[in-house]
Amino acid sequence: MGSAGYDLVVVANRLPVDVTIGPDGDVSWDRSPGGLVTAMEPVMVEANGAWVGWSGAPDVELEPFDTDGMRLVPVPLSEAEVADYYEGFSNDSLWPLYHDVIEPPTFHRQWWEVYRKVNQRFAEAAAAQVAPGGTVWVHDYQLQLVPRMLRELRPDVRIGFFNHIPFPPLELFAQLPWRTAVVEGLLGADLIGFQRAGDAQNFVRVVRRLTDLTTRGQMITVPAEGDRPERHVRAMPFPISIDSKKFDELARTPEVQARAKEIRAELGDPDVVLLGVDRLDYTKGIRHRIKAFGELLEDGRLSVPETVLVQVASPSRENVGAYQQLREHVELLVGRINGDLGELGRPAVHYLHHSYPMEEMAALYLAADVMLVTALRDGMNLVAKEYVAARSDDRGALVLSEFTGAADELTSSILVNPHDIAGLKNAMVYAANIDPREARKRMRRLRRKVLENDVAAWSHSFLSALAAVPAPQKTQDTQ
Ligand code: G6P
Repeated sequence: MGSAGYDLVVVANRLPVDVTIGPDGDVSWDRSPGGLVTAMEPVMVEANGAWVGWSGAPDVELEPFDTDGMRLVPVPLSEAEVADYYEGFSNDSLWPLYHDVIEPPTFHRQWWEVYRKVNQRFAEAAAAQVAPGGTVWVHDYQLQLVPRMLRELRPDVRIGFFNHIPFPPLELFAQLPWRTAVVEGLLGADLIGFQRAGDAQNFVRVVRRLTDLTTRGQMITVPAEGDRPERHVRAMPFPISIDSKKFDELARTPEVQARAKEIRAELGDPDVVLLGVDRLDYTKGIRHRIKAFGELLEDGRLSVPETVLVQVASPSRENVGAYQQLREHVELLVGRINGDLGELGRPAVHYLHHSYPMEEMAALYLAADVMLVTALRDGMNLVAKEYVAARSDDRGALVLSEFTGAADELTSSILVNPHDIAGLKNAMVYAANIDPREARKRMRRLRRKVLENDVAAWSHSFLSALAAVPAPQKTQDTQ
C-alpha cells in the first residue's frame, strides 16, 4: 500500500472543520471550535500531521486538503452509515452503555456490522496517510476497532488511543454483545489513554475477566502471534484540558467584559445569576438542576427576580430518540417553572437552545455568579474548566458533580451528588450566598490547577508516553 508520508496522523470521528454544502453543491468549511483541534494544531503543524475524519455531512466525497498547516483527509459516510454507525451504534449503544446506562442502550446486530465496516474504512484511510515508522493517534468511542485494524495494515507504526468518555465498570461493559471484539480492537494500540485513573482500572479489569491475557498494574501483555513479537500495552490516565491561557486572555478583553455587563443588564440586573452550559444530553443532569432550582423558588429559599437561572443547551444528536425525549422533558419543565414562578418580562429560567461562539461563552461565564455542572456521568467536562479559566477576577462559585472526570482535579469546587436533590439544593443556596473571601480562596486554587494543566500539557504527555514505547520490531516495506 502506498503511504502519503505524514509522521503524525490523528484519527477522529469528526474533522476539526464542519462542511456545508450549498444549494449549488458548493463546498464551504467552518472551523469547529472543539478543544481537540486547539490542542492538536501546534503539534500537528510541527510534526507534519494529517487529520483523518468525517466532515459531518452524509453522502459527500471530498478530496483531502491542507489548512492551518495540517492535512485534512475526509472519510465519507453514507446516510445509512450515519444512521447505523454514528446515531445507532456510537450514540445509542455505546454512549449510554459507557455513561452508567442512564438511558438503556439499544443493541442491534446491523448497527454493529456497520460500525465494523466504518472502522475499517477509517483504519485504511489512516494507513494510507502515515509515514513508515510514524505515529497514529486514534480518538474516542466511535473508533475503538481502529487500533487493531490499523496494526494489521501497518505493523510498523506506533498506535495510541484516547477515550474521551468514561470507560464503564465490567458489570456494565459485559452487557455489550460484541465486548470481546471491542477489547481486542483497543488492544491493537500501544498506549490506551483514559480521562480518570478509575477508567483505566475498569479497562484493565475488563481485560483480565474477558480475555486470557496477563496484566500487571497498568500493563497488559499481548503474546506473540505468527511473526508478530510479544507486545506490552499500557492503559493510563491522561486527564484532558482546555487552552486555559487563551480562555483567560479572551475573558480579559474589554469586549468580553462589556458584554458580560450587558448580559446582566439584559437579565434585569439580578443579584445572583446561576448558569448551566451543556450539550442537550441526558448525561448532563440538566433536569436535576432545573428541578432543584424550581423547588428552591417554591420553598422561598431563592426568589425571582433577584435570582435567575440561565441554561444554555446546545442542540446535539437530534435524530436519536433519547435526545428528542430529553428535549421534550426539559422544555416542559422550563415552561412549568416559568409559568408558575416567573413574572411578566422576568422568567425564572432563561432557556437557550443554541450554540454560541467562544466570545459569548466567555461573557456568560463572567456574568455568572454560580456555575452549575451537575452531570450524572461525564468523561471530563470542559465547561467546568472553561468557567475557571475565564474567572481571572477570582470571583464566582463552581458547583461540580462528583461524577465528572473534572471532579478528580477540581477538588476546591463545591462538589455535589446530583441525584441527591436535597444536597444539590443546599449546595446551590450555599454557592448563591457564598462569602466572597471563601469564593476567592476556592477560585484561586481551581485556577492554579486549570492554568497549569492545559491541553498542550495533555497532548504532550500522551505523545511523549507513546514515543517512549519501544519501536515496532517489524517494519513494513511501504516503498
Ligand atoms: C463528546 C464526545 C466527542 C463528540 C462530542 C460531540 O465530547 O467525546 O467524541 O465529538 O461529544 O458529539 P457529536 O456526536 O456531535 O460529535
